[in-house]
Amino acid sequence: MPTIAVLTSGGDAPGMNAAIQAVVKVAASRGWEVLGIERGFTGLLNGVARPLTRNADGAPYPVPEIDDIGALGGTVLGSSREPRFVDPVERQKAAAFLDERGVEGLVVIGGNGSMAGAHALSGEVDLPVVGIPASIDNDIGLTREALGVDTALNTIVEACDRISDTARSHRRAFVVEVMGRSSGYLAMAAAVATAADAVLLPEQGRGFDEILDSLTACIRHAFSPRRGKRRVLVIKAEGVQFPTHLLVDELRAELSDMEDVDIRGTVLGHLVRGGNSSFRDRMLGGRFGLVAVEAVLEGKTDVMVGWNLVDMGEPTSDNFIRLFSLPEVLTETEALLDGSSPVTQDRVRRMEAIHGVLSL
Ligand code: F6P
Repeated sequence: MPTIAVLTSGGDAPGMNAAIQAVVKVAASRGWEVLGIERGFTGLLNGVARPLTRNADGAPYPVPEIDDIGALGGTVLGSSREPRFVDPVERQKAAAFLDERGVEGLVVIGGNGSMAGAHALSGEVDLPVVGIPASIDNDIGLTREALGVDTALNTIVEACDRISDTARSHRRAFVVEVMGRSSGYLAMAAAVATAADAVLLPEQGRGFDEILDSLTACIRHAFSPRRGKRRVLVIKAEGVQFPTHLLVDELRAELSDMEDVDIRGTVLGHLVRGGNSSFRDRMLGGRFGLVAVEAVLEGKTDVMVGWNLVDMGEPTSDNFIRLFSLPEVLTETEALLDGSSPVTQDRVRRMEAIHGVLSL
């Protein structure tokens, strides 16, 4: 029986397990066995894997574990950020392992580093390699959304709602930091959904003093008798290059004359990355998984499935999913992160446009 391998790599993201589940079920339904590679590219290099299907009466069936994983956050296969995988000599070990286990197709679920690894490997093995985008940061090119983004946003919104309850009770301003090393997408989207008063993004390229001045004015205005707000919420992306506690200390110093106003900081950190996946991430995981297996079966390689870019890429059996070549994905990812992509420029423009509305 032919075998397809699947791995999850980079920062885990809710929806990865839904995608694994779909890959296993779709592959088994087409008569393929599935091998789960443990801990991403590390498992490929070290030759550590476990079967995700078993044979009964000559047909492959998902192992029972697979039935229970669709809702779970994290990844049951484990993940890693594997620095050795950039080395072509090391990657030969991965190619040899896939060959030894008779693997005829590979699905890589992960973020931009993982798509780079999948691209490099696809040129060195004689089998289809297909990527599924997964990163809470939404920093992967040529997909409107990656797995994990929706769940992370739901978690952030719930956390901000809770913080707002206590903030309103004490007339406090909170700076809430959310994940997003190089991308402010989570901060941006959450700021709109929580009616935050301000948002700080790495893409804006603003310096510390400029941010301090604008937040000081924002908080003064919000708590002024004229405006009379009871809560100020500032959402800061992790990628803004100074610590949240430093910003909070400086704001306290600037606003020390406002005696009944207090400023606090909360870093949500990894809380945002875990948790059962939302409906949307399960739905995306299932649909990405199906199309990725179909692509493997059609012999497509060095490609990634992308969501909701209907006029671009190559069509698939799903009207909302297109296939994009990994080199194109990597180029667009770089542009997203260095700010030259129209997608990044549009996001920043839209946030600048509502700047005065948020702080009103
Ligand atoms: O997966 C993306 C991400 O969550 C970033 O937002 C964050 O900067 C990074 O991963 C943290 O990674 P790690 O858990 O490896 O420190």
